[in-house]
Amino acid sequence: MKILGIETSCDETCAAVVEDGRRVLSNVVASQIEIHRKYGGVVPEIASRAHIESLVPVVAEALQAAAAPTAELHAVAVVHRPGLIGSLLVGLTAAKTLAWLRGVPLLAVNHIEAHIYAACLERDPGAASCGGAPGPFPCVSLIVSGGHTSLYHSTGPLEHRLVGATTDDAAGEAFDKVAALLDLGYPGGPVIDRMAERGNPRAVDFPRPWLGPESLDFSFSGLKTAVLYHVRGKGAGAKRRSTHLSPEETADVAAGFQEAVVEVLVGKTLRAAEALGVDRVLVGGGVAANRRLRGRLQADAHAAGLEVFIPPMAYCTDNAAMVAGLAYHLLQAGRTADLDLEARAV
Ligand code: KG4
Ligand code: ZN
Repeated sequence: MKILGIETSCDETCAAVVEDGRRVLSNVVASQIEIHRKYGGVVPEIASRAHIESLVPVVAEALQAAAAPTAELHAVAVVHRPGLIGSLLVGLTAAKTLAWLRGVPLLAVNHIEAHIYAACLERDPGAASCGGAPGPFPCVSLIVSGGHTSLYHSTGPLEHRLVGATTDDAAGEAFDKVAALLDLGYPGGPVIDRMAERGNPRAVDFPRPWLGPESLDFSFSGLKTAVLYHVRGKGAGAKRRSTHLSPEETADVAAGFQEAVVEVLVGKTLRAAEALGVDRVLVGGGVAANRRLRGRLQADAHAAGLEVFIPPMAYCTDNAAMVAGLAYHLLQAGRTADLDLEARAV
């Protein structure tokens, strides 16, 4: 069963064709990074206009790469929430039009649930069928992206209970803001990941925001302020630039900050697994592309006797394969959407 997925919730225009919820036949992503770079972040109005320009060619490329003409599609899936409303509307309108034209079901996918499902794509059919043992479920899912940092108790592809969330910045947002403080450019996550490799994570002792021994919540704003004070000096505010740091000092700050974030993300994920009595953990979202997070989660979870599910890099940041994959389970459950489906920011 072939499903076309469309994802335009933020600044990537994505389309993919996935068969039977797992086999990725195509996965096309048109990045807008170059367009937004000079503003230091995503400009919503510009993002929606860029989606309008890219979406038709991106969908055409996904269908062609999958050798799947629209007549072969069993359904069209689209992310309808959460995200930038103008951006979501572009994907939603395209998906509705295609579903209506071809007379196939429309499926409404939640962006966060799709990030969780990314760990189920292209798994060895002998090893797991998502939704049934011995796949990742039941597990603790850590979702770390530009807009979210949350822990879920996931018991199936469509069943997730929130058990912890950030009280301020998302992890990806903290990476982006710290990169800006260090004059490293945008987007910050990948550049800090690379810089940190050359730095000493113990050169600067940044705080670990644990929020108490049992808390499953996150807070990264204090850590971000600690980096600001370290880089610009207390009371210097936003005026003093960070360019007085040597490349080695910059790398040490990047490594120290990344280590603090990773330690808390991994620690709380293991804490949640213990509290919920599950022996599997999963990570998804753009920050799951971070190499230190991937390595540390593997190592610490294995040491604690837990099984770990980490998607390939291409399915961590925004993509439509995770959307078309999860949609298969919505279709199986008979949860189709109507053509009056609305986009929602949250
Ligand atoms: O999931 P995503 O592509 O979009 C949202 O749904 O937000 O996540 C984007 C976030 C950005 O904040 C970006 O800096 C971060 O993921 N990111 C990373 C890495 N690659 C992307 N953060 C840390 N290390 C990385 N390698
Ligand atoms: Zn995302």
